[in-house]
Amino acid sequence: MSPTAHARHERSDDRTYDAGPYLPSRGGLPAHRRAAADCRGCPLWEDARGTVFGKGDASARLLLVGEQPGDQEDRQGEPFVGPAGRLLRRALEQAGIDMDTAYVTNAVKHFKFTRPPGGGRRRIHKAPDLREVAACRPWLLAELRLVRPEIVVVLGATAGRALLGPAFRVTKDRGALLPLPLDGGPGPYVVATPHPSAVLRADDREGAYAGLVSDLKVAADALAKTEP
Ligand code: URA
Repeated sequence: MSPTAHARHERSDDRTYDAGPYLPSRGGLPAHRRAAADCRGCPLWEDARGTVFGKGDASARLLLVGEQPGDQEDRQGEPFVGPAGRLLRRALEQAGIDMDTAYVTNAVKHFKFTRPPGGGRRRIHKAPDLREVAACRPWLLAELRLVRPEIVVVLGATAGRALLGPAFRVTKDRGALLPLPLDGGPGPYVVATPHPSAVLRADDREGAYAGLVSDLKVAADALAKTEP
């Protein structure tokens, strides 16, 4: 092992992954966003440009959870500002939801990527593993506690498993209102749908997009029923 690799091993692999100790003991979303910028709860901070914390109205009725920031999000420091975000905005609009009224975040707050095998600067998305998702979960739970949305939309398997556990399957659970117990008590309802990036990659893109809009309409209808 080279000295650099050894140092990295020392810093990362042997310790528990957990963002918990980095959470502030009090304060609202701004305090949490500031603290998350210095999170070292797992090794993903080492290669990413920065933490991408959630964004949006602190009293939003709808909270959307993605997987992790992508290349654009990592550069701009905001969730869902790249191609997947643009598709999501369009699908939400078609379902009758203005994305700017929602709070948008990710299960994991740092961009995980690899470089092309032959070398090169391109950063290729790599899915976070279970340990990283579990480590980052305290930030997501804090966002849920602070925003207290009525409906949570989970976008894809990583977000679904982060909130609903390892048995969650997008194909099985999508498009239905599922209760999300939090801290042992009743929480918001969850609507699951495939990740917008999966829609962008789908062979039948039109069909996948229609499915996404249809799932988002379940969230829109639920919100309309309890409109203040
Ligand atoms: N994909 C995600 O899951 N989240 C983002 O913020 C961007 C792309």
